[in-house]
Amino acid sequence: MIFSTKKLKLVSLFLLTAACSFGQSNTSALLPLPNHIEQITGKKNFTITSQTTVKTNLPKQAFCLFELQRILRDRVGQSAIMGGFTASGNSLIELSTDPGIQGKEHYVLDISENKISIKGATQDALFYGLKTLDQILLGDVCNTANKQITPIRIDDEPRFGYRALMLDPARHFLPVEDVKFYIDQMAKYKYNVLQLHLTDDQGWRVEIKKHPGLTETGAFRNPQTGPNGPDNGYYTQQQLKDLIQYAADRNVEIIPELDIPGHTVAVLATYPELGCTHTDTIQKIMGKTVDLMLCANNDKVYTVYDDIIKEIAELFPSSKIHLGGDEAVIEKNWTKCDRCQSLMKQLGYTKESQLMNYFFDKILASVRKYGKEPILWCELDNIRMPANEYLFDYPKDATLITWRAGLTPKCIELTAKHGNSLIMAPGEYTYLDYPQLKGDLPEFNNWGMPVTTLETCYQFDPGYGLPAAQHAHIQGICGTLWGEAIKDINRVTYMTFPRGLALAEAGWTQMEYRDWDSFKERMYPNLMNLMKQGVSIRIPFEIVPR
Ligand code: ACM
Ligand code: ZN
Repeated sequence: MIFSTKKLKLVSLFLLTAACSFGQSNTSALLPLPNHIEQITGKKNFTITSQTTVKTNLPKQAFCLFELQRILRDRVGQSAIMGGFTASGNSLIELSTDPGIQGKEHYVLDISENKISIKGATQDALFYGLKTLDQILLGDVCNTANKQITPIRIDDEPRFGYRALMLDPARHFLPVEDVKFYIDQMAKYKYNVLQLHLTDDQGWRVEIKKHPGLTETGAFRNPQTGPNGPDNGYYTQQQLKDLIQYAADRNVEIIPELDIPGHTVAVLATYPELGCTHTDTIQKIMGKTVDLMLCANNDKVYTVYDDIIKEIAELFPSSKIHLGGDEAVIEKNWTKCDRCQSLMKQLGYTKESQLMNYFFDKILASVRKYGKEPILWCELDNIRMPANEYLFDYPKDATLITWRAGLTPKCIELTAKHGNSLIMAPGEYTYLDYPQLKGDLPEFNNWGMPVTTLETCYQFDPGYGLPAAQHAHIQGICGTLWGEAIKDINRVTYMTFPRGLALAEAGWTQMEYRDWDSFKERMYPNLMNLMKQGVSIRIPFEIVPR
């Protein structure tokens, strides 16, 4: 059907009137829900006019100032005058850092008749105050249409300091512009970490200057199709610097992941000699060959990875580097390798999995040498001992991520006991590559089962219902989107939203304020907004009342 502009305007007016009569308000689109909201009654609205002026102690080029102008232009079609430090007037927006407010992400947003004030100790906190203001304008459609904002006071800070999503450009390469687009969406929902899974069997996606072969070979999953062929590509260090700054402006820290000692076919395709003795003759075809590992008893593995970690540590300002450690198929590699077997004898080990300690002792020494801290996937299965005992040999400075379905309670218990920090990515709740509904777009889903529905995601309590003292070591959450079946950014966002909204609330909002029915209501305007901004999302039709 083709609408004329006039008809479209009439339809928009009708939708707006309908929204107003359904009681849209200044809290209708707040997501994640702030932890303290105070409605102010009996006061006049703030009005945005051509005289609205910004008072600020931020430098002129501060990203928050651009973000404020963007919000005003997008929502009410009006820029504000940049008045600076001494601005005054009766339609004033004050956006200022205030060291008296405790907490890096804690903001206080106060809307009264003559003034909107956003305060926080850091620009990151101010950025979140702005994101909340944006959602107030999105939700309160009738007032927004009249350039009015109803008085409200929001004093808000997150439940958890670590709120991550993970992308996997190793499997299917995602160009920088697509990653930026994803970061834009993350920032709307106050995510502050992007874990980039940069290396796997199917690809090596980061330029390493000392070892150019890693990308010359490893970045070309389909070598016959050239640099722009499907699934080919890598990030240059210059591109990554730009991406890291883009993310930092939006309070998103990028944590690089180099997955070892398994998931390494792309490395072995470049340097076959880094594998075990019996794997030399196996042809390494990226995207097809799996289950190979780096050899534990091969000096070249440690010198090459020392070079790689050095460059990664210099490139990424994050204090953390993720080294994987998951799904190492030890019995097909270290068990059959002459070198690994002789090392076991020398060290008096009885199980090949003990070589993991030897391997990671050497790798983590490089991580520490270059001033970083390690993150590892929590792999209890590999080290399961008789009688269901677990040999928990992770060093204390390793932050672990729990992920295997069913093992999270054990991971919580063991990390608490041994003093490790823990990030929560239990497969049951946070695996965004699982289908959202049985049978939903099988071509986007690597796994037939299990299904992780939006409602299941929403039920996720990162504290697992434990008393605060027992989960004090939990840093936060990570929604993982493995890329085996995720070929482009539209599939990425389709798998992320709306479940990423549920996880955002799990990371930010205290359990006492979380409520499924309220979440559903607040989700709809956000989904409409995402679609309007060109984000491919999944409409959760299964939860719409019939
Ligand atoms: C993982 O899902 N292999 C950590
Ligand atoms: Zn070996």
